[in-house]
Amino acid sequence: MTTRPDSIGDRKDDHVRLAVDQHRQPAEGNDFDTVRFVHHALAGIDRIDVDPTVEVADCRWPAPLYINAMTGGSHRTGAINRELAVAAAETGLPIAAGSMSAYLRDPALAETYRVLRTENPRGVVLANVNADTTPEQARRAIDLLEANALQIHLNAVQEIVMPEGDRDFAHWAGRIEAIAAAVDVPVIVKEVGFGLSRATVALLADLGVTVADVGGRGGTDFARIENRRRADLGFSCLEGWGQSTPCCLLAATGVDGVTLLASGGIRSPLDTARALALGARATGVAGAFLTVLLDRGTDALVTTIRGWLDHLVSIMTVLGAATPDALTDCDLLLTGPVESYCRAAGIDTTQFARRSGSRVATRSDSWPGAPAEGTVLA
Ligand code: FNR
Repeated sequence: MTTRPDSIGDRKDDHVRLAVDQHRQPAEGNDFDTVRFVHHALAGIDRIDVDPTVEVADCRWPAPLYINAMTGGSHRTGAINRELAVAAAETGLPIAAGSMSAYLRDPALAETYRVLRTENPRGVVLANVNADTTPEQARRAIDLLEANALQIHLNAVQEIVMPEGDRDFAHWAGRIEAIAAAVDVPVIVKEVGFGLSRATVALLADLGVTVADVGGRGGTDFARIENRRRADLGFSCLEGWGQSTPCCLLAATGVDGVTLLASGGIRSPLDTARALALGARATGVAGAFLTVLLDRGTDALVTTIRGWLDHLVSIMTVLGAATPDALTDCDLLLTGPVESYCRAAGIDTTQFARRSGSRVATRSDSWPGAPAEGTVLA
């Protein structure tokens, strides 16, 4: 996100305003709506047996949910970061900084990011840089936040639509490889809402990256945001560009050596469960949480996050998934645009509908009078 230094703060403020405007519009629905769990009425487990914790980027997270990268770099966005950090500290959620390029150009802006650590001293904090960053700059970003991991964002579509954006992308892969080799925290590469393809995830693995956030279409649309910032509104053709988050997960699951995270259009704990069932280790939320914060305040955001975590555990209980990973054994019906995508991409959707196999259709020992283990119910 390289631009004229005098405009960076204004741009950060524009992003917040235009993103929240998007999230205030009546919901249009997204591809998660076409991913449905098969309900098995006897699959449920005891709620107390659900453990929602996950291991991501060498850290144990209390739940498969994080506050994704948004902001910093102006007075207003520094204040927003403070409130996001308070919510992260109160709920235990990991939190990512917005792009720290403004700080790397102007160290006087440090406090607008550093607040993520000072308000949240024991939390998991992720630094965030663009793919134009040198290893030395990446280290400075990590040091400022005493970060537990580093996010590198990929946003070529955003840059192209942004009037003052970058136009040179050929060196990005080399920069990512250099950063991954140089820094001593895990590197997470993320898209900002246009999606990572399987080929991109496989390339990231070759570059030494072990965690990829597919960041797909379905939530905040940065082509739309940047188009609103153009006097000519000339790039409306790129609004809606890219692969949706469920489709990215379906395509990229199983790339050797890469843990997948999911963000982009995660609107509810059910979307989190759906993304985990499609192979994500954890899910990130940006625009939806920002909108709660700005419309209703920090206490409301804390209440929203707590409710989200509570409902996620409830959904796992009903589905019989004692851990987030166990959701990948739950039966899913893939319909509508997700099914069409899979057909076009050569992915067999029917396997998802019957992957629980005997787990939910087998009588349990604990059922008084149950027949021998392995008896399959009709
Ligand atoms: C973002 N996002 C983002 N991502 C990033 O890596 N660096 C950044 O600086 C920003 N800036 C930013 C500002 C604002 C206001 C929003 C809402 C988002 C992208 C974000 O992390 C995420 O990838 C997308 O917003 C898609 O997720 P949601 O919003 O659909 O949950």
